[in-house]
Amino acid sequence: MNAKQLAAEQAVEHINDGMIVGLGTGSTAYWAIRSLAEKVSEGLRIRAVASSIQSEDLAKQLGIPLIPFSELEEIDMTIDGADEVDADLNLIKGGGGALLREKILAANSKRLIIIVDESKRVERLGAFPLPVEIVPFAANLTIRRLERLQGKPQIRLANGEPFITDNGNWIADCSFGPIADPAQLHLQLNMIPGVVDNGLFVQMAHQVVVGYNDGTVKIIN
Ligand code: 5RP
Repeated sequence: MNAKQLAAEQAVEHINDGMIVGLGTGSTAYWAIRSLAEKVSEGLRIRAVASSIQSEDLAKQLGIPLIPFSELEEIDMTIDGADEVDADLNLIKGGGGALLREKILAANSKRLIIIVDESKRVERLGAFPLPVEIVPFAANLTIRRLERLQGKPQIRLANGEPFITDNGNWIADCSFGPIADPAQLHLQLNMIPGVVDNGLFVQMAHQVVVGYNDGTVKIIN
């Protein structure tokens, strides 16, 4: 079993009958969705909401019951991956382009469990370029503002065209270097008109489950 799968399966053990579960996005969340589907097929009664079209399609395909957001008041537990995790459990997310829906789920979850392999743990956030979701309208002006914050923004491309998020927006991947104050940068970015949200998840995670290549798992609270 690989390190991502190990972390995912450990996290899924926390899911109980009757829960509403938020499904993350990415290659680690994939293993969590697979493991959850197996438990559902064995009789676990849960309902789920997904943070991306990709995860929603996978959940449907594997027989996980989904509920529409309109019927939802609160999520019991969301399990999601991350691109970087620091010692205070602050995160960079959005490598898969799903940061906005992921953050909406996280903010409305009683518990956010992050699943990663050991490569995602860092002393300080920022080696991974920070994804910032921006509206395509006047993107050049928004990009100029990101440049003024020293973010060296690069519009993410897919097949030579701007990558389009599930919300119809673009992603600017920003290289700030080591981020000294994630909370402050988060605020500065979200105050720019044209920025929808950014991939800094500051003090949102309740627990991080780390899978190691030697087959062990460590839980950080
Ligand atoms: C998607 C995300 C993912 O959780 C993040 O990119 C980690 O992905 P993976 O588990 O494939 O390494 O934030 O927007």
